[in-house]
Amino acid sequence: MTDVEQLKEATRQVWSRGDYVKLAARVESAAQELVDVCAISAGQEVLEVAAGNGNVAVLAAREGAAVVASDLTPAMVELGRMRTETEGLDVEWRIADAEELPFDDESFDCVTSAFGAMFGPRPDVVAGELFRVVRPGNTVGMANWTPEGFMGRFFELFNRYGPPRPDDLPHPLEWGREEVVRERFESLAGSIWTEPRWVRWSFADPDEGFRFYGETAGSSSALVATLDEEAVARLRADFVELVEGWNQASDGSVEIDAEYLLVVARRPG
Ligand SMILES: C[S@@+](CC[C@H](N)C(=O)[O-])C[C@H]1O[C@@H](n2cnc3c(N)ncnc32)[C@H](O)[C@@H]1O
Repeated sequence: MTDVEQLKEATRQVWSRGDYVKLAARVESAAQELVDVCAISAGQEVLEVAAGNGNVAVLAAREGAAVVASDLTPAMVELGRMRTETEGLDVEWRIADAEELPFDDESFDCVTSAFGAMFGPRPDVVAGELFRVVRPGNTVGMANWTPEGFMGRFFELFNRYGPPRPDDLPHPLEWGREEVVRERFESLAGSIWTEPRWVRWSFADPDEGFRFYGETAGSSSALVATLDEEAVARLRADFVELVEGWNQASDGSVEIDAEYLLVVARRPG
């Protein structure tokens, strides 16, 4: 049996390194989609789970919502707090595990997570927590990378170079399958809406892309830091091949639409 606490400690270490601000800027469009489809507006109480440095929190606060942003990784919470303070936004930051949210039942009008809660090791526990803290009749919104999209293939490739994943826990990318989301939310939600969306990755060339994922932040950069020179060279070659299969640009640059599943589920009133 996998020790989930050990896994979470490893997650904290992964997300404490690098420069997440650069990565967050590239996925901001998904946060905007979430804010729009959840119809987040002034006066609502909103929780962002696994917030990173607060892409959703910032946009929701700009709408006039009262926002609490939370993340498992203390370094992320610090990064987010600095960001919202610099922008003069009134966001409360909390260190919190998506599997054990430190909030009372029915505390929020909307609970969101972009590419975050999907990484909690026990999806049913995560789902239960998201719905426990949202008020009846209100919404839970998620953005989840899909297994068939570019990011699904990307994680598959990078995972081949790392230690094997625990086989007694569901893969995070399962959150990107509509049927899996419906199954996990079945007993919790009155209605469930999903639609595919895309984040655009743009790079001057594949090498810039490899440097970005391999050096900036997150699990791919944490993995690259553990590899020897020869393994990095093989991974770079595999990455370039992957990119060539998905690239929509033909001028040497990289333009890839990376699919995610946008989810809005309503707790019964
Ligand atoms: C890819 S980042 C996404 C951050 C942010 N939502 C965004 O869109 O930029 C993943 C985040 O999930 C957080 N995370 C991973 N497992 C978590 C858990 N069990 N509970 C809360 N946060 C978690 C990490 O600390 C990290 O900040």
